[in-house]
Amino acid sequence: MRILVLGGNGFVGRAVVNDALAQGAEVTSFSRGLSGTPLPAAVTQLTGDRETGDYDALRTGEWDAVVDLSGFRTRDVDQAMAVLGDRAGRYVFVSSHAVYVRDLPAGTDETAPRREPLRDADVLTNDTYGPCKVACEDDVVERYGGRATIVRPGRVTGPGDSSGTALYWIRRGARGGRVALPTKPEAPLQLVDSRDVARLITRLVADDRSGAYNAIGPDSTIAELIRTAADLSGTSVDIVPVPFDAVPPRFPLIDPESEWGERRRNPAKARAAGMPVTPLRTTVADVLRWDHDRGTPPLDIGLTPDQEEQLLASH
Ligand SMILES: NC(=O)c1ccc[n+]([C@@H]2O[C@H](COP(=O)([O-])OP(=O)(O)OC[C@H]3O[C@@H](n4cnc5c(N)ncnc54)[C@H](OP(=O)(O)O)[C@@H]3O)[C@@H](O)[C@H]2O)c1
Repeated sequence: MRILVLGGNGFVGRAVVNDALAQGAEVTSFSRGLSGTPLPAAVTQLTGDRETGDYDALRTGEWDAVVDLSGFRTRDVDQAMAVLGDRAGRYVFVSSHAVYVRDLPAGTDETAPRREPLRDADVLTNDTYGPCKVACEDDVVERYGGRATIVRPGRVTGPGDSSGTALYWIRRGARGGRVALPTKPEAPLQLVDSRDVARLITRLVADDRSGAYNAIGPDSTIAELIRTAADLSGTSVDIVPVPFDAVPPRFPLIDPESEWGERRRNPAKARAAGMPVTPLRTTVADVLRWDHDRGTPPLDIGLTPDQEEQLLASH
């Protein structure tokens, strides 16, 4: 099996590369070569830039599948598809759960309504990212038909997740003490382990499956995430709910209650296709170990210990 990973040196891409190598695939990665640490020597690395339309490195070669993790606007997928044509047997587009309309009830699956497509946007924001992914999905399905596969991850974490979103709460639990939580402890989460997303992708390729798949993790809650990290670190926490508006907007993993249904999507289709379910405890343990090994660099997300202490003093 020959797999071309667009964005193989990114967070999720690296998990796909590792899983594909473990399955015995020949792996090629295409990127600007700027992100992350070096990839394994077995990976053929090609350099280009989707922003400037530089796909020269992809003008030769044949792959059983391309896995696109760096497509965000229609021009990205359109240019890649034009260059690759039928030299790629299957096009796996890594989309997002952000394609779905907001405020859906709990339990919806891949047939849930999507947002209106947007073909381009100067800046990707909460309002444009999902609609741009919708338009990309449509273009990929139109060009590759039954050879198109769409994977829609929820919030992903795992070793290598430097975004800080889940890591803020994992570190916070590990530190122990009084934790300021700007939501209810039972706020739902379905964090998915990057290695489970990767396994789903390599299975879909191996089994030649088309269609859309929600890649989401086990049901948990924000309190479970914090307590799991505390337990694994030998600390204990006292979770103190604080008002939603007492912290900056877009606080990591904190959404209004009206959006909680988005954290209880139905993962049955992906699981039936072979997506494993790494227990939250394993994911958190592996993130803590990875973060420790890289020297726990400062995060520019969430509250600093001083800010949190001040907030707790007034609640
Ligand atoms: N992480 C999540 O929680 C999450 C959730 C839902 C969906 N997703 C989707 O999963 C995909 C991967 O996400 P991620 O978190 O792994 O992202 P990431 O770590 O930022 O990786 C992005 C990858 O794209 C490459 N890239 C960026 N700009 C490029 C350019 N102009 N030309 C060529 N390559 C470029 C990067 O390599 P270079 O910098 O070396 O070019 C890197 O390999 C994305 O499509 C994202 O929308 C992620």
